[in-house]
Amino acid sequence: MRRSLVIANWKMNGSVDFIDQWTNVFTTFSPVSTELAVCPPFVYIRYLQQKFLTSALDINVGAQDCSVHESGAFTGEVSAGMLADVKCPWVIVGHSERRQYHGETNEIVAAKAKIAIEHGLRPIVCVGETLEERESGRTSDVVIGQLNAVLDAIGPEALVTGAVAYEPVWAIGTGKTATPQQAQLVHAELRDSVESRDSQAASALRIIYGGSVKPSNAAELFACNDIDGGLVGGASLKAADFYAIAQAA
Ligand code: G3P
Repeated sequence: MRRSLVIANWKMNGSVDFIDQWTNVFTTFSPVSTELAVCPPFVYIRYLQQKFLTSALDINVGAQDCSVHESGAFTGEVSAGMLADVKCPWVIVGHSERRQYHGETNEIVAAKAKIAIEHGLRPIVCVGETLEERESGRTSDVVIGQLNAVLDAIGPEALVTGAVAYEPVWAIGTGKTATPQQAQLVHAELRDSVESRDSQAASALRIIYGGSVKPSNAAELFACNDIDGGLVGGASLKAADFYAIAQAA
């Protein structure tokens, strides 16, 4: 039985005051069985960690990206080693917004997953197709290709320490959520792809869904066999909504 996993991706949102207000609400909630994490912008990771120390909830922090480089003249980048140094266990790699705006290829995403694993981090590997790719019947080829690049780099066993997030690009931030049937189909294909390499890893791997997850649709999505939780953007900016989604997992 896989423990459900719900992760907040705040993207480039937040402030010290926002974190104070968000955590003042969130830390009053009672524990849930779901594993939780919040990925704020880099500059707030330490501050959020401190705020969670007083919480009874089992909740951790994560980063929204890491460099492919170990260290050096890469202005503005943050290394996997630095995230490990500040005890930030989770890191999102290959989010569609980084693939789109920063030209991150499958090879770059695989290298990020690899250096994350080398530093003991837990990579959340994002895969997902564009509307054009879906409408041209290429969803499976695209997402399996994205996953296989990472599997070739780190292997199924290492991937199990993290998670895979299926995020159809056309559902991100649009309010247009994939139907449970659409999402389940892709999640099952992703799991089958891992199964072909390592059946134990396939069974243990958590594959979470992202793309307009809301309190109103979370339970139906998470009831699907191969959907093990969510990667939540906009709705996670409201503590009560993020908690409601965590309860639904
Ligand atoms: O990484 C999660 C994010 O891409 C989903 O965003 O706002 O559609 O929940 P949203």
